Amino acid sequence: MFEKVESIKKQIEEAVANTKEELEDYRLKFISRKGVISELFADFKNVESKRKKEFGIALNTLKTQAENRFKKLIDQVNSTDSKRDSGIDLSLPPIPGQTGSLHPISIVKNRMIQIFERQGFNVTEGPEIEDDWHNFTALNFPENHPAREMQDTYFIRKDPDLLLRTHTSTVQIQLMQNENPPFRSIMPGRVYRNEAISARAHCFFHQVEGLYVDKNVGFKDLKQTLYHFAREFFGKDTQIRFRPSFFPFTEPSAEIDISCFICHGPGCKICKYTGWVEIGGSGMVDPDVLKNCNIDPDVYSGFAFGMGIERITMLKYQIDDIRLFSENDVRFLSQFE
Ligand code: DAH
Repeated sequence: MFEKVESIKKQIEEAVANTKEELEDYRLKFISRKGVISELFADFKNVESKRKKEFGIALNTLKTQAENRFKKLIDQVNSTDSKRDSGIDLSLPPIPGQTGSLHPISIVKNRMIQIFERQGFNVTEGPEIEDDWHNFTALNFPENHPAREMQDTYFIRKDPDLLLRTHTSTVQIQLMQNENPPFRSIMPGRVYRNEAISARAHCFFHQVEGLYVDKNVGFKDLKQTLYHFAREFFGKDTQIRFRPSFFPFTEPSAEIDISCFICHGPGCKICKYTGWVEIGGSGMVDPDVLKNCNIDPDVYSGFAFGMGIERITMLKYQIDDIRLFSENDVRFLSQFE
């Protein structure tokens, strides 16, 4: 009889329950009226009288043990249940985190802003939907200029004309019309052109426009400003070259070239074996443009420049397809820091 008590005691100590069903099995086996402990109580009458007291104490202790163990098992099952309910398994290894990154166009734009800000330029933005006057007329485009054709420009409405701006030079006009000189501002933004999409051209892209208008601003100021930009952006030994050109809104006008930062001279694929790469257009603001914005060209003069952000980004990172910038492929976008 006493061995039986010992053996049940051991079973109670070793009992486990992970589910409600296992808990119920335990209850039936040890606690219920038909359980093993109740059976032992029934055997009480068969115990010889001098050991009855000893047996009674052993049985009652066993009963308390069984009940205490039962309470513990209930707690255990409840706590595993609530863990399951919360859906959080704290023992799982963590999922590797994926953080976003800036778009390469934003990285280059921010860097350009930073370099020009240090030269005293502030940032101005203007509308992407413009009228003919801001996009063409005020900038001296002649009546019959090809850019004014439907096949080059996205018109939203004809007569009066409303269009998607084809360049950020429109923001020069916005600024000069709405505020008083001096101006020293850069104007980053998106522009639209009715172009067939290819590796080299897209129907939308980004430009940074620059405008400096004050008394006594000369071509030397333009050169110095862009020379500083080129060295900061492309590297300390970058050279700069101005090639005579034509834009309706500047006189004189010049294309801006920098020495090839890949081959440093002898020629490579990037510079098409010339040693130079073009990064934008520039010039002295045409006096007629100042007049169109009610600024006296006898008092004020200025320079302007415009650069394509995609072009500069493609040069800097040696990207050979402009479409990559708008395809949103994370494998491409996550390579830039
Ligand atoms: N607006 C010209 C373009 O889209 C770029 C440009 C050239 C801007 C010369 C300027 C400039 O301010 O002076 O091609």
